[in-house]
Parts: sequence; structure tokens; C-alpha cells
Amino acid sequence: MIQRMFRVALAALAVSVVLGHGAALAASAEKGKAAFMKYGCWQCHGTQGQGSAITSQGKVLAPDPLPIEGFVAFVRSTNRGMPPYSEKILPNEDLADMHAYLASIPKTKDYKTIPLLNQ
Ligand code: HEC
Repeated sequence: MIQRMFRVALAALAVSVVLGHGAALAASAEKGKAAFMKYGCWQCHGTQGQGSAITSQGKVLAPDPLPIEGFVAFVRSTNRGMPPYSEKILPNEDLADMHAYLASIPKTKDYKTIPLLNQ
């Protein structure tokens, strides 16, 4: 009986590990774009994380955002020019999606690939 309970618990643990892992992998750039607008990040960082000429203080976030650990740590605990966002108002899942969105933004093409500029 105890052995059986142990096996059930082990199976539940395995499932939660798999699900946890899956959730991390499933960060969605599409949802992240919506979250970036919803939480107002765009107001200081531009709608594509390109920085903003209007606030001229919001940093460039994309392409090539900080690695996810540094990204999350900064947003949670900044005491610099940006207000911190606690997990209460900004869930980890939305933050991971936003990171996926910023990482999905393509780099600017090399101007040499623009035919008009190569004549
Ligand atoms: C009120 C304006 C403002 C808003 C809103 C804002 N930021 Fe910022 N953010 C800044 C400023 C200014 C900096 C630069 C801070 C510094 O270096 O002192 C910054 C820096 C950052 C950085 C660090 C970038 C780096 O390379 O060091 C990240 C990541 C970031 N913001 C993400 C976000 C996210 C995600 C949101 C929305 C949840 C957001 N910000 C909302 C103003 C803002």
C-alpha cells in the first residue's frame, strides 16, 4: 500500500516536472506582444522595444534582449530609472512571453542588402 502511494506520488511529481518544463518552453511571442502593450512597457521602450524618442530615457530592449534571468531580475527589482514590477501585478508567465516577443524581433538588415544603396 505504501509502495503504491509512493509510486502515485512519484508519477504526480514526474507530471508536474514535465508540465513545468513545458510551460517554460511554451513562452509565446504573440502573447508577449499583447502583454508588452497591456503593461505599458511600450510607452517608454517603444512598441518593438526599440527605445522611444519621446521619453528618450527608455532603453533599447530588442533585438537581443538581456538573457531571461537578467531580464526578470531587472524588471522585478530595478531601483534605477524604471519602476519595478512585482509578481503581483506582472505574473512570471507574462514576463516570459514578453521576453519571447522581444527575442523574436528581427535584427535590422545590413544596408548592403538593400539594392538601391548598392548602385
Ligand atoms: C516609465 C518608463 C518605463 C516603463 C513603463 C518601463 N520601463 Fe523598462 N526601463 C526604463 C528605463 C528608463 C530604463 C533604463 C534604466 C536604467 O538603466 O537606469 C529601463 C530598463 C529596462 C530594462 C533593462 C535593459 C538593459 O539592457 O539594461 C528592461 C529589461 C526593461 N526596462 C523592461 C521593461 C518591461 C518588460 C516593462 C513593462 C513591464 C518596462 N520595462 C516598462 C523605463 C521604463
